[in-house]
Amino acid sequence: MGLFSSSMRDKHERNYSDKELFKRYAKRLKPFKKNIVLIASFMIVQAIAAVIAPLLAGFVTDEMTSSNPRFVWVILAAVGFLILYLFNWGAFSMQQAQSGKYVPFFLEDLRLELFSKLQEQDMTFFDEHMSGKLNSIVVNDTLDFSNTAILISNTVGSLVISLGTLGFLFYFNYILALITLAAIPVLFILMYTLRNLAKRVSKSYREAIGSVNSAMVEAIEGIQISKSFGQEISIASQFEDINENYFRSWMRLTATTHFWRPLLNTVASVILCLVLYFGINMGITAGTLVIFVLYLESFFSPVMQLARFFPELSAGMAAFERCLSIVDSNPLVQQKPDAQPIEEIKGKIQFENVNFWYDQDNVIFKDLNLTIHKGEKLAIVGHTGAGKTSLVSLLSRYYEYQGGDILIDGQSIRSYTLESYRKQLGKVEQDVYLFPGTIKENILYGRENASDEDIWRVLEIVQASDFVHRLPNGLDTKVGDRGSDLSVGQRQLISFARAILLDPKVLILDEATSSVDAYTEAMIQEALEKILEERTAIIVAHRLSTIVNADRIIVMEDGDVVEEGTHEELLAQKGKYASLYNQYFVHQSLEWQEQTIS
Ligand code: UTP
Ligand code: MG
Repeated sequence: MGLFSSSMRDKHERNYSDKELFKRYAKRLKPFKKNIVLIASFMIVQAIAAVIAPLLAGFVTDEMTSSNPRFVWVILAAVGFLILYLFNWGAFSMQQAQSGKYVPFFLEDLRLELFSKLQEQDMTFFDEHMSGKLNSIVVNDTLDFSNTAILISNTVGSLVISLGTLGFLFYFNYILALITLAAIPVLFILMYTLRNLAKRVSKSYREAIGSVNSAMVEAIEGIQISKSFGQEISIASQFEDINENYFRSWMRLTATTHFWRPLLNTVASVILCLVLYFGINMGITAGTLVIFVLYLESFFSPVMQLARFFPELSAGMAAFERCLSIVDSNPLVQQKPDAQPIEEIKGKIQFENVNFWYDQDNVIFKDLNLTIHKGEKLAIVGHTGAGKTSLVSLLSRYYEYQGGDILIDGQSIRSYTLESYRKQLGKVEQDVYLFPGTIKENILYGRENASDEDIWRVLEIVQASDFVHRLPNGLDTKVGDRGSDLSVGQRQLISFARAILLDPKVLILDEATSSVDAYTEAMIQEALEKILEERTAIIVAHRLSTIVNADRIIVMEDGDVVEEGTHEELLAQKGKYASLYNQYFVHQSLEWQEQTIS
């Protein structure tokens, strides 16, 4: 185990058949049909140039070695040769330009699709997928996959040229052509033996890049913990291992690629010697020999490219598969096709026999029943892990529940469109997150059209106006990234202000003021009284002042509501609440403080 455990493991399993992968690939290429057709035509031009140019060279050689060379024809052929090469060069540049035109769009499309798919996912997905791995898929795998588009078009071009030249070789001299063909089985054997090695090496290279990426993300996310436990050196040394692994796999990849090249060159040279030897013995003309030598080159250099094709293609397809694993994962929290936008909720909430688990072995709620009336202020208390956050997460539709139903104003929350529904809930989360941006942008997050006066009004309610005023840039102070100058309590207040500005009918506060001092909290309480009139509020709290003012308190234990009532009623019961009160809250009560001081 270690901080980088996600980058060390690769749980990737094959979920798609080759056929399906290629079908999906072809579908993605469809919008770029025009570019692909153009690329194919430029390739044909190159293939034509590649087969005709040697013929001209052969003609010139034959003419120049004859007793009576026709200089006009020689010059014409030389000019033709030059023109063909210009054509070849032009077609090649235009082919590259076409690739340059569509591959970045292809990449952009895929990244956009992945990004919006990630936005769609519910919290279960993010619980299951490490952010480092997701980052690596969106950044590296998309690029690897897009590069296969260039790889395929280059390979197809090479194949066309190879086959074209082979045809001409046969036309000129089938014996010499057969000698050339003898190279093919040798090349195949070489390619086959090296294929698995190349595949392995390139796979481990790509995994190593992914690991470096994931490790970086995770190290930055966990920087505070590693610092507090003095683990920086150990983390750095783990990263060193990952980096070294990357270096080694890169070396292996380079070695394999370079090992292959001289081998191919050797085979090509042997064939060339054989062709020259037999050609001369057969008494063919110097011109035909020149044609053969040039054809051999245009036959072998694409073959070299073919050698890289399979390992790179399979790596690209594996990357595509990882991309598809995001594209195809559907969130458990789904909007029904017939879902209706919710206009305005009144605020009655019912949990009816709700069953819920994050993972099947650990059931959180079993037949949970709870009714929260319109306009009621409900406080939830309970030990750590009792299920308080889970309850409000279900209500917010972050997770899908497996049984029973949750109703708002008598209608299942599943019957509403997700966006319209979530917008009706104002929420202050237990883990406050501020986006990188200014305080103002953060507060306006849910209601962009609010005025500065509105912002100051909500800041006053949450007792944050003083500190924001004191900031040198006021509302325009940048927050949110690691460099933010806000304390945790101040961040809570900003997120509180953001929730209130939404003016929601239902307000959910999950330990919303847990990091704010008692004085500020008491002041907020006072202001909240007014704000919460006419609203349903669910308040998860561990401060007495927040709890006593609630209309009703429920005590949760192991995912169940074990007690409910007002503060006085519950104290009188001398049950769970009374014991929680004596453990946590009693010290915060005025009576206790008066008694202790006197
Ligand atoms: P909660 O997160 O609902 O507990 O987890 P809580 O009452 O709000 O606790 P505190 O006061 O904030 O600490 C309830 C149970 O759900 C499991 C936890 O193991 C816990 O026992 N859980 C929670 C998961 O399995 N996965 C999660 O992502 C969150
Ligand atoms: Mg919680």
